[in-house]
Amino acid sequence: MSAAEPPQSANSAPSGGSEAAKPRACGDHTSIAAPRAAPVVTIAAAGARDIAVIQALAHDIWHRHYPGIISDAQIDYMLARSYNDEALHRYLTTIGSGLALALRDEDAVGFIGWYRLEARLAMKLDKLYVRPEHHGEGIGRLLIEHVVAKARAADCTAVTLNVNRNNVKAVRAYERCGFAIRERGDFPIGNGFVMEDFIMERVVS
Ligand SMILES: CC(C)(COP(=O)(O)OP(=O)(O)OC[C@H]1O[C@@H](n2cnc3c(N)ncnc32)[C@H](O)[C@@H]1OP(=O)(O)O)[C@@H](O)C(=O)NCCC(=O)NCCS
Repeated sequence: MSAAEPPQSANSAPSGGSEAAKPRACGDHTSIAAPRAAPVVTIAAAGARDIAVIQALAHDIWHRHYPGIISDAQIDYMLARSYNDEALHRYLTTIGSGLALALRDEDAVGFIGWYRLEARLAMKLDKLYVRPEHHGEGIGRLLIEHVVAKARAADCTAVTLNVNRNNVKAVRAYERCGFAIRERGDFPIGNGFVMEDFIMERVVS
């Protein structure tokens, strides 16, 4: 991992915290297990060495999340198109863009990508994926706030994103994180596939 940024805590519940603290009978004595610490989530800038990690996360999450929203053929097409080495390297080498990983106790469980739009003072949040087993732990919000901070630092007045109109859970999560639907659009992406999206936006002040 390159250039790790300061740890930020998500609202993850301690796994088995109170259960682990209960006294346990063990032979002829009673032992008390130490309570397990709550997981620490860190948002860390991704570098070239993390590209394979992001590709593995994307393949896993997309194939678990998108069936029923887009076809398997479209999943494979979009993964090949947007997650090849060259496409991901572009985020690392273009000014105003980047990739970051969410590390949960040092395990990579999610990532985000962004780039600066040239036509207006806005940052595009372009990828946001968290492993399903860690949804609802506050990790998505931490990743979003990471990009909002990048937008603020770049004097952008908005963060904008595209989300599939049938990706209801993600739309709800974005709304909870301050985004509102601005418009809808259908975007052909080749091979007969179309992205049927909402464009959502959050004002940055
Ligand atoms: C969208 C996604 C990144 C959200 O990540 P997450 O770690 O689960 O989100 P958080 O736990 O940080 O939740 C952020 C806010 O959204 C809310 N939220 C999350 N999922 C929600 C859901 N399914 N319905 C309603 N609200 C939801 C949370 O309650 C929280 O709001 P609060 O803090 O006011 O309670 C995650 O669900 C995901 O990876 N989904 C699959 C991939 C995807 O669709 N990515 C978006 C592509 S455009």
